[in-house]
Amino acid sequence: MKYSLLSNGLRIAYTSSGRQNIPAPLVLLHGFCEDASVWAPLLPLLRGIRLVRIDLPGFGGSDLPLTPGIDASADAVCAILNELGVEHCILAGHSMGGYVALEFARKYPERLAGLGLLHSHPYEDSPDRKENRRRGIEMLHNGKQDLYVAQLFPGLFAPAYAREHPEVVQALIRRGRRQSGEGIAAALQAMIDRGDHQDTLRKSTYPVLFVFGAYDAIIPVESGLAAAQLPDLADIHVLDTAGHMGMFESTEATARALRDFNDLCIARLKPFAAAHQAANSK
Ligand code: MLT
Repeated sequence: MKYSLLSNGLRIAYTSSGRQNIPAPLVLLHGFCEDASVWAPLLPLLRGIRLVRIDLPGFGGSDLPLTPGIDASADAVCAILNELGVEHCILAGHSMGGYVALEFARKYPERLAGLGLLHSHPYEDSPDRKENRRRGIEMLHNGKQDLYVAQLFPGLFAPAYAREHPEVVQALIRRGRRQSGEGIAAALQAMIDRGDHQDTLRKSTYPVLFVFGAYDAIIPVESGLAAAQLPDLADIHVLDTAGHMGMFESTEATARALRDFNDLCIARLKPFAAAHQAANSK
């Protein structure tokens, strides 16, 4: 794990691994109440890929900015890419990480060789969802983080998986309890405040990966599939036994989807890289 001190004094934790001579890394952004450790099950299956895993601001080892928000998180991702000297990346976010990836796509489309949305979507919150998040913020302000986190994670998994793998759910609860309560509350507010990103997908000039879980209680497959019609180039996967947590519930299929998508994006980038190199050597 490395730490980067951004120009605004924010400390962001990230890990960069794999072959560094690959033109664009696969950058992974975790979901709500988690940190980059959530990708651990996929790592043995993503060997050889140039990977960057970031703890989003307010989670894991990363500071919470003075003005938190999905926008500030997208800027933090951009700052890490700049620090690594990375011009293009394949940016894949899980759920809330997907909201950050979409905001990054809106602000910095020229930096993307591909966009991945894992159990995520471009729509803003419904009024009910906003209300539910406000209740969460209240619980956190009242010191009930342990209870909040214990209620959150079981519902993210397909019921059969949660029954058969209580240790996975419990490990996420334990880790969630160690996250900063302030960071969790700020993320809830950031999700309430975020806008709609259907236009970002309509305007995409890069391939977009969608991974959904048939038992996802947060992102219903039907609304996800409707969003997947928006980009010109979409690679769509439905995991038929998973809920919201494909990296645990359908590890191999999730890794395969990411790997194939990464290869596709790198292959599309290579002719551009070669043309750029040729132009520069004239
Ligand atoms: C997540 O896993 O990041 C959250 O479920 C996203 C959300 O609540 O919309």
